[in-house]
Amino acid sequence: MRKNLTAEYAEKYAEDAEEFEKKKTGKPLRPLSAVRPYDVLISLRWSGKGEVSIAQNTETAAKLRCIACGATPVSASQDFRCTACGDLLEFFFPGWALDPLFSDPTSLKSLWLNRRTSRHALDQSGVWRFRELLPHIPNLEAHVITLREGNTPLYRLPRCARAAGVENLYAKHQGMNPTASFKDTGMTFAASSAHQSGFRWVACASTGNTSASMAAYAARGNMHSLVLIPDGKISWGKLSQSLDYGALTCQLRTDFDGCVQILNDLVRQKPVYLLNSVNPYRIEGQKTAAIELMEQLAWEPPDHIIVPGGNLGNSSAIGKALVEMRELKLISRLPRLSIIQAHGANPFYRCVREFGGKKLEPMTADTLATAIRIGNPASWKKALRVLQATGGEVEEVTEIEIAAAKAEIGADGIGCEPASAVTLAGLKKLRRSGFVKPAEAVVLILTGHALKDPDFTIKFHRGDLFADTPVPGTPDATEAAQAKNLQRAPVVLDANLGSVIAALDAAERSSSR
Ligand code: F0G
Repeated sequence: MRKNLTAEYAEKYAEDAEEFEKKKTGKPLRPLSAVRPYDVLISLRWSGKGEVSIAQNTETAAKLRCIACGATPVSASQDFRCTACGDLLEFFFPGWALDPLFSDPTSLKSLWLNRRTSRHALDQSGVWRFRELLPHIPNLEAHVITLREGNTPLYRLPRCARAAGVENLYAKHQGMNPTASFKDTGMTFAASSAHQSGFRWVACASTGNTSASMAAYAARGNMHSLVLIPDGKISWGKLSQSLDYGALTCQLRTDFDGCVQILNDLVRQKPVYLLNSVNPYRIEGQKTAAIELMEQLAWEPPDHIIVPGGNLGNSSAIGKALVEMRELKLISRLPRLSIIQAHGANPFYRCVREFGGKKLEPMTADTLATAIRIGNPASWKKALRVLQATGGEVEEVTEIEIAAAKAEIGADGIGCEPASAVTLAGLKKLRRSGFVKPAEAVVLILTGHALKDPDFTIKFHRGDLFADTPVPGTPDATEAAQAKNLQRAPVVLDANLGSVIAALDAAERSSSR
């Protein structure tokens, strides 16, 4: 029987690597089966004492490290924090330096590209396709849970580009994932790790998208899922998803930050696997959005990447991928990664602008972009590092700016949920401040699909989104005036041809295109 393409390619690749090693060292390569680049043994198991023990093979390519004290722990508490100092953990890859696979970026790029033609489930996933850059999960094939996530489109945004005053504007639409948000890329990886570790229950606190994603992946992996969400503060679309995928959904009378606290206490007492983005496997999976983006741009980095900031896991993940890709010479320079928050949920903006990155002061968050209604972001130190490494900026935007930007992205025929639109609103500010230049190439990371929050969209188009009109002469008043041009309230007509033709003619007269 004819071998499938992946197997053929893997064989060919193995031959190439052998040749390469012989040329370089004069010695033959160790057999691939013995030293996979990602051949790591890190398995997490519930110890019954509120701790997960992590068996690490010392010869491995990937290791866990604390971002603050640098400890490389062999066990982590169930809340995925360093047992020595309580800060966050991350994966790093000392084995990359030793492995010939990583000294040849061109071969890696061809390997990943070639997988696009494969029928293998792992290769069809836009996350697992890049598995060489991820920690290895032992006995992967038996544990992987994939919905063919990733593989999201990169669109040009011509209308938004004009509105923002840049020539080259793109959107990487992570809302085109299986559960319609970027969370799926991290979830496939972390849920597979939970499965491999033998957990029956997984859990998260969420503003709606993590819970939708986790519930779907848990269901696919035959695990139970527990969702903690703030009562009345997430969109119906997202809530309906976690119900449909069979999660135990608890609406707590608190905000997102309150849900996180309760969940952290819970995982210390119960054998429940935490799937919030403090889980370093989530970050690894989410890295792949940036790798895929670079592949889509023929490995020519844009000048800027702009992301929304909530709990700050996504910006950390994308930044980590950029730094790693440069280390591996997959890209020749770093794009600047900028993070945008809503004014009413801006603890990171204040951390950078007011406190010079020295401290983060938690706040009570409030914004109609409910996905990023977060006052105490867990990953702020990781995000800060990313800003510093890439030379990015942090901005805040008002509710009107968010609504106007969302309508503009919709008018480009793309659409997104409100939290994603902070990227365009932020770009406009970064243009005005001169941080982004007109000729620079910019990619906005759109994190969620337009249908995630139709209530917001309908209220905007009906003109019911805001109770107050902005003070004349303020930037909000200018935004509101521009946004009004984008409002398309539905018209209710008598059911006859004449009234439809009259509506059509009126629309044509006022059309700007
Ligand atoms: N955009 C959307 C659509 C989100 O759902 C989130 C976060 C963010 C942006 C911010 O990403 O937290 O990594 O900085 N949503 C989480 C949730 C918190 O529970 O769904 P972040």
